[in-house]
Amino acid sequence: MGSFAKLAKRAVETEAPVMVKIQELLRGAKDVMSLAQGVVYWQPPESAMNKVKEIIWEPSISKYGSDDGIPELREALLEKLRRENKLTKSSVMVTAGANQAFVNLVLTLCDAGDSVVMYAPYYFNAYMSFQMTGVTDILVGGSDPRHFIQMLRISELCKNAGSWLVVDNTYEYFMYDGMEHYCLEDNHIVNLFSFSKAYGMMGWRVGYIAYPNGTAGFHDQLLKVQDNIPICASIIGQHLALYSLEAGPEWIRERVKDLVKNRELLIKAMSPLGEDAVKGGEGAIYLWAKLPDNCSDDFEVVRWLANKHGVAVIPGSASGGPGYIRVSFGGLKEQDTMLAAERLKRGLQELVTKGMVQ
Ligand SMILES: Cc1ncc(COP(=O)(O)O)c(C=O)c1O
Repeated sequence: MGSFAKLAKRAVETEAPVMVKIQELLRGAKDVMSLAQGVVYWQPPESAMNKVKEIIWEPSISKYGSDDGIPELREALLEKLRRENKLTKSSVMVTAGANQAFVNLVLTLCDAGDSVVMYAPYYFNAYMSFQMTGVTDILVGGSDPRHFIQMLRISELCKNAGSWLVVDNTYEYFMYDGMEHYCLEDNHIVNLFSFSKAYGMMGWRVGYIAYPNGTAGFHDQLLKVQDNIPICASIIGQHLALYSLEAGPEWIRERVKDLVKNRELLIKAMSPLGEDAVKGGEGAIYLWAKLPDNCSDDFEVVRWLANKHGVAVIPGSASGGPGYIRVSFGGLKEQDTMLAAERLKRGLQELVTKGMVQ
C-alpha cells in the first residue's frame, strides 16, 4: 500500500464520494437498475436544444464570459426570482451547478475551524465540501420529521446567532400532494438553485446563487472564489438555461406530476420493511427507508441488493442516516420503475425473512 504522506489531509480525511462507489458497484454487477443517483429521466426542452444547436459556432460561445453569468441569463433569473420565489432583494451569480454554488459559499462564508449545522438526511456533497475546507465541526440535526423545526424558526435562530442560513432549492418544483415551495429572504440568507433536475440539464452544469444585495462585501468575496474555480459557468450551458426558462415551470410540472406514480410503486415495493419504515417523498425525488435492526451495515445491504437482486440504491450512512437506504424515484420512466420496484420488493422480502443470503 502507498502512503498518504504527500497528499493533503483535508482531502484524505474527506469521505469518498458515494456516487463514485455506487458507479463502481454498478460496473461490477450485471444488469442492475439504478434507483440510486438523484437524476430525472427527461432531457431539456426540445425548443431550447434546437436553439442551442443554432448558436454553437458564434465566437462568444467559445470565449470566457462574465464571472457572474451572461447578462441575459442573469436578467431572466432576477425576473424569475422576483416572480416565482418572491425574492426582491437578491443578486445572482450563475455557477457550474448547485454543487459548485455550495463550494463557493463554503469558501466565501466559512473559515477552517468554524462550526456548521446540517440536517440528516443531508446531501453528501455538501458534507464533503465542509470536510475538505477544514470545516470539520459539523453538527447534524435529526432526521425525524416530527422533530423538524420550521424554516422560519431556523432562520430566526440563525439571525439571532449571527449565522448564515444557506438553503438549497434544487427541488423547488418537485412538490407533491398540494405542497408548495417557498423561499425566505433576509440579509443572513443565501438561496441556491439548479437547472439540473428541473430541466433535465444534469450534464450541462448550470445552477445559481441568490445572495442578499444588502450585505456589504458579499459580491467581492464571492467573485474571488468564482474566478478561481470555473471563471464562469459553461457559456453554452448558460444559453441552454436561458432558452429552457422560456419553456417555464409548466413544462417542468408536466413531468414532475408523473413522478407520483413512480413514488407509489416504490413505496409499495418497500412494504416488506413494515409500516412506518418509509419516509419522505413529499418533495424532491427521494424515499428514505429504515432497514431491519440487524442491518446496520447499509453499504453491505446496498451491495447485496445490486449483486443479487439487480437494483441499486444509496446507503443511508452517506447522508448521515446509517441503517437506512435512499431510493430515488426520478431517474427511470414508469415502465422501468415498475421493473426496478419488483426487484427491490423481492430483495427486501428476502432480507426481512432470510437475511442476506448469497
Ligand atoms: C440537494 C441537492 N443539491 C444539489 C445537487 C447538485 O445539483 P447540481 O447538478 O446543480 O450541481 C443535488 C444533486 O443530486 C442535490 O440532490
